[in-house]
Order: sequence, then structure tokens, then C-alpha cells
Amino acid sequence: MLNWDEFHAEENPVARQQPAPTEAPEPAAPAAAAAYAPAAAPAARTEHDAQRGATSQPAGASAAQTGTVTSAPATDAIARARASVEHMDVEEGVAELEGTAGRVQVDDKRMINCRADLNQLVPFKYDWAWQKYLDGCSNHWMPQEVNMSADVATWKNPEGLTDDERRIIKRSLGFFSTADSLVANNLVLAVYRLITNPECRQYILRQSFEEAIHTHAYQYCIESLGMDEGEIFNMYRELPSVAKKAQWGIQYTREMSDPAFTTGTVETDKALLENLIAFYCVLEGIFFYCGFTQILSMGRRNKMTGVAEQFQYILRDESMHVNFGVDVINQIKIENPHLWDAQMRDKATQMILEGTELEIQYARDTMPRGVLGMNAKMMEEYLQFIANRRLAQLGLPEQFKGVNNPFPWMSEIMDLRKEKNFFETRVIEYQTGGSLSW
Ligand SMILES: [Fe+2]
Ligand SMILES: [Fe+2]
Repeated sequence: MLNWDEFHAEENPVARQQPAPTEAPEPAAPAAAAAYAPAAAPAARTEHDAQRGATSQPAGASAAQTGTVTSAPATDAIARARASVEHMDVEEGVAELEGTAGRVQVDDKRMINCRADLNQLVPFKYDWAWQKYLDGCSNHWMPQEVNMSADVATWKNPEGLTDDERRIIKRSLGFFSTADSLVANNLVLAVYRLITNPECRQYILRQSFEEAIHTHAYQYCIESLGMDEGEIFNMYRELPSVAKKAQWGIQYTREMSDPAFTTGTVETDKALLENLIAFYCVLEGIFFYCGFTQILSMGRRNKMTGVAEQFQYILRDESMHVNFGVDVINQIKIENPHLWDAQMRDKATQMILEGTELEIQYARDTMPRGVLGMNAKMMEEYLQFIANRRLAQLGLPEQFKGVNNPFPWMSEIMDLRKEKNFFETRVIEYQTGGSLSW
């Protein structure tokens, strides 16, 4: 087991060689230390000494030499701080806390428009949300842990990749590097505020950090490969098939992104539900899938394995984000059945189909011909398969009859249990991280 003391000793071998001091070191500034001690007052003992019943200090030893702390006379600032705390109005503070005061019961909790105190995490109503938070923490990873040296050599070698393969890498990083920032902004500025349940908010906080790690991973790839950062980060403005996806995401999350938007009426609750479907089922549930499949297929062919490994971890996270979002949406439907009317079901179906169409266009744009054992036609079928799955997750009828999954290996990568085994070393490292010896 890693010992923290040894870790420091490794870093600082000089310190390790020095014998432990047997005498207290000279005080660095005795004059300054003495200035804090009132001349006439007896040297006070620290609270720690008092608690363990320390014996009196040796005659002649100063407070600085013995390491004790003396109590200083109250200055005007301290006196004002004490008076302020003394006269605090607790009632006023409680009234300002989010939600009504009082002990929260499970039945008080609701996914949206909850009036109970949101600072009380337990009792849990949605155990699945807390479990997802724990699972997310267990699968923690960081981009710098992935070795990129083989990728750098391949990228810099003119013979290392075909032009079609290079296009795929650039467009994936171009779309994802900014898309994940948009996702994070929506989560932190909109979804978190409007989902009124503490265990779900706990997962949203975890998800937000994962989105930051994803943006970090793309930046790490772009920097490692020495790419033109201006070109990559502006692709979502400059390339039509990428710009359309970004525009669609902004358009369909507009209501909840407005800081003044609140829920509480049928109209606004429906707007939030629509936005959540766009966010979780399309932005996170469809728009990542063409690029992820392309990069992971490259890794399976032993090319750009570092980038592919980063994408594997990201896909594992994203898979959980989508499942969480679907659970939230379905819970809102259960608690507010009047929102899930024929018009809303039609709108949800339409949004998923529009997202699928945009992703198919992106596939055609990034794969003008066959590459990496796949082509745009196969990707179209895969995206239709994914669309059917998203529709079924929301309880809606599938729209693409008889389509199959042409890339069954993608399901294996997304399956958390299998992935956990695949990355066993890393998962175990993080799970034991909490028992470091200090
Ligand atoms: Fe992400
Ligand atoms: Fe995500």
C-alpha cells in the first residue's frame, strides 16, 4: 500500500537522510512571536494541551520555544465579529434556505417543483440516482494516465494514417471538444437548478466533473498531437455538419438555458421535459455515437490507441449519463402524467428523429468512402438502431423497423460491468485511493 510519508521521502531524499531533530529548532522570529504575548499574562496553554492535561512548561521557556499559543487581547475587529455572531437571527437564515423548513419525508420529494428542503440528502427517494453517483466515483479516471506516445509517433509519421483517418480524428476532436463544454454549461447552469431533488443533484455534480474531464481529455489529445487548436476549436462554427448539431442543441435547450426560466405551470413543465429529452436523449444519447464508433474502431485496429482509450473511458461515462437522464425523464412522467400527452410524445419522437438525421449527415460528411471497416451506410443503420433504443427507453414506438446493430462490439464497451473488468487495474486503484496511509 502506498504510504504518504514514504512518498514525500521519495520526492525529497535529502530530508530522508537527515536525522530527526532532538531539540526544538530556534524560533524564526522570537521578537515577533513575543509581541503577541501580553507581558503580564501567564503563558497560556493550547487547547490541545489543556485537554490532555499537559504538565507545566519548563521554567524560562518562551511561548515560541515551546510551540504554545497565547491568547491575544480582543481587537476591535474580533469584538465586532463576536458581537455579530452573538446577535445572529437563526430564524431568518432558515427561512431563506431553499425549500420549506422541517424534516423531509420520502413522500415530500419530487423530481421537479419540489417544495421540501433540498439540503436534506436523506431519506433517499431515488436510490438509483445515489447508486449512479457511487458508480461514477468508482470509475474515476484522468486523461494524463493514458500513454499518448504511440499516437504522437503515428500522427507525425506521414505514412502513419490515411487522409480519411486523419479527417475522422480532427472532426471528432473538433465536435466533442466544444460539445462537451456546451453539455457542461447546460448541466451546471440549467439542469442542476431545475431538478429539485438532492440525490439527483449529487449525481449531476459528479456528471459535471466528468464533463470537465472529457473536455480535458480532448484538449490533452489536441495538445499531445500538436494540432492547430484554432482550427479544431472553431470547427463547430465552420463545418456545416458539425455546426448544425451544435445549433440544434442550443435551439432545443433554449428555455432551460434562460436564467429567468422557472417551472410550475403545465406549459413550463412541458418545456423543461422537452429540453431534458433533447439534452439527455439526443445531445448525449445520439450526437456522440458516430464519432465514438469511428475512433473506437480505429483503436480496435491498433491505430491511435491512446486517443481510443480516452474515448473508451468517455463513452463509459456517457453511457451512464444517458441512463441517468432517461430515469429522470421517466420519473417526471410518472409524477406528472398530464405532461406526457399525445403532443409531447409526438414532439419527443420528432426530436429523436431529427437528431438521428443530423448524426447520419455527420457520418456521410466524415466518411465520404469506406474507412476502418465501416462506411456511412453501416453507420446509418447503427444510428437507426440507437434511435430505436432511445425511443424504447422513453416508452415510445420504434420508428426504424427491422434494423440491426452492425457494430455489436460497441455494446460491450458501453456495458459498465464488462468495462469494469476490462479496466480492472484502474478501477481498483481508485477504489483503494481512500485508504491511503497518512
Ligand atoms: Fe461528456
Ligand atoms: Fe455526458
